[in-house]
Amino acid sequence: MTMSRLVTIKDRQFKPYISKKKMELAVKSIASAMNRDLKKECPVFLVVLNGSFMFASDLLKEITIPCEISFIKVASYVGTSSTGNVTELIGLSEDLTDRTVVIVEDIVDSGLTMQRLLALLKTKKVKKIKIATALFKPKACKVKLKLDYVGIEIPNDFVVGYGLDYQGFGRNLKQLYVLAK
Ligand code: IMP
Repeated sequence: MTMSRLVTIKDRQFKPYISKKKMELAVKSIASAMNRDLKKECPVFLVVLNGSFMFASDLLKEITIPCEISFIKVASYVGTSSTGNVTELIGLSEDLTDRTVVIVEDIVDSGLTMQRLLALLKTKKVKKIKIATALFKPKACKVKLKLDYVGIEIPNDFVVGYGLDYQGFGRNLKQLYVLAK
């Protein structure tokens, strides 16, 4: 059975953690909440690459309200622990003035990337900012953030798959895996 299979990524072994089905249910529930909450907002979804490409793809297929989708990049992470050294926002060409912006992230760990991203977006004269994240590590989070849409809360473990990588690998895995001790 898939659930008992370990995967090796570079020098580490990972074990199955969150199934595709469980993630799918969490994503669908976020999408229905957004379809309800943002009906009149015509939001711009800002997909934070690279990690959230799989989440964004699954989520946005379930969005039925008028919306725009854009992709941005920030860099903050090396190896298996967060550095929080966010550099800058790459790829934002849209005018976000008076728009409702929904940040689509893969995971909020220390929260430093999100905090920096929020600070950058707040200079763009947006109407409001909502945050959606597939995964949230509450115990790792060092800053106060209002996360509007959270897929699944997880302990402070390093996970891979469903868009998330370990040293650039493993993003293509359909489900989430966790570092096997
Ligand atoms: P934060 O700034 O600590 O919240 O981390 C933000 C970024 O670190 C995320 O967008 C991910 O790219 C990466 N990250 C955090 N935790 C993990 C993990 O468990 N696995 C893979 N990447 C992670």
